[in-house]
Amino acid sequence: MLAKIEQLLQEIDGLKADSAEQLEALRIKYLSKKGAINDLMADFRHVPAEQKKAVGMKLNELKNRAQERIAALKEAFENQDTTADEMDLTRTAYPVALGTRHPLSIVRNEIINIFSRLGFTIADGPEVEDDWHVFSSMNFPEDHPARDMQDTFFIESHPDILLRTHTSSVQSRVMEVSQPPIRVICPGRVYRNEAISYRAHCFFHQVEGLYIDKNVSFTDLKQVLLQFAREMFGPETKIRLRPSYFPFTEPSAEMDISCDICGGKGCPFCKYTGWVEILGCGMVDPAVLEANGIDSSVYTGYAFGMGVERITNLKYKVKDLRMFSENDTRFLKEFESAN
Ligand code: DAH
Repeated sequence: MLAKIEQLLQEIDGLKADSAEQLEALRIKYLSKKGAINDLMADFRHVPAEQKKAVGMKLNELKNRAQERIAALKEAFENQDTTADEMDLTRTAYPVALGTRHPLSIVRNEIINIFSRLGFTIADGPEVEDDWHVFSSMNFPEDHPARDMQDTFFIESHPDILLRTHTSSVQSRVMEVSQPPIRVICPGRVYRNEAISYRAHCFFHQVEGLYIDKNVSFTDLKQVLLQFAREMFGPETKIRLRPSYFPFTEPSAEMDISCDICGGKGCPFCKYTGWVEILGCGMVDPAVLEANGIDSSVYTGYAFGMGVERITNLKYKVKDLRMFSENDTRFLKEFESAN
């Protein structure tokens, strides 16, 4: 028996394995229930009493050496670097699924690009705002019915704090820290307390524009908006300005573009008028300039504000506003090529 143990000890010291399968085969051969060492253990009871001590010690040594050797082989095997010739360099790569830009981001970026080329820079402001920046500084008098034009989300414990209802608040933020010439656009998200339907949502996106300098006139406004409409909707696009009312502009107007579905002839989309509304605009009311620290006897300015969803609706004929926030990848995938 001792001779058999010696022989196994030698075998074990010389063991080698090149793969997980080989290693497992060795473990089974030596250490499993039916393995060589267990067989010897089973024969141990036939060993004469006076030899039991010496044989028992040798047997334990054998078992420990076998366990250590196999563990060492396993470790060496696991730490082995996979060499290039073991890799299949001809295998085709896994397909990488690319995401798509959201349609509202595509359109917002396009609006930003157009106005950047016209010399506008980008300004930013907080979505959680105070009454001053959203209303008072924009010439909405306290308790004036004009405040009801926009259903506002207020913070219950702080009635002065609210979710901005329009990006016009960023006009005020820009004016309070800079002096003319000011030429900015302010893209951002706005919130209104509206029931969600295909044509209204409790949050949406706007791009505000503001230009203040000496001698800025309504003509400048009109030309910039015409340029924008042509770049956004095509060179044949016509615009028309209708008188309107906003507290922060005087005079104020709403701008329509010629319906690009029927080319202005009249269709269900434009309700047979040939025109669709896309934005509000006007000359900055001198009271707004003064409230924000700009001398209205020296400077004049124009402002405009447009809804990104509205423009996206028109450009891509998306009829249901809710699609923009549902994150249905089948819808989003349709804008892959517009990225
Ligand atoms: N703030 C207006 C709204 O949310 C949009 C707007 C109209 C912005 C006229 C302007 C403007 O700057 O001059 O309905």
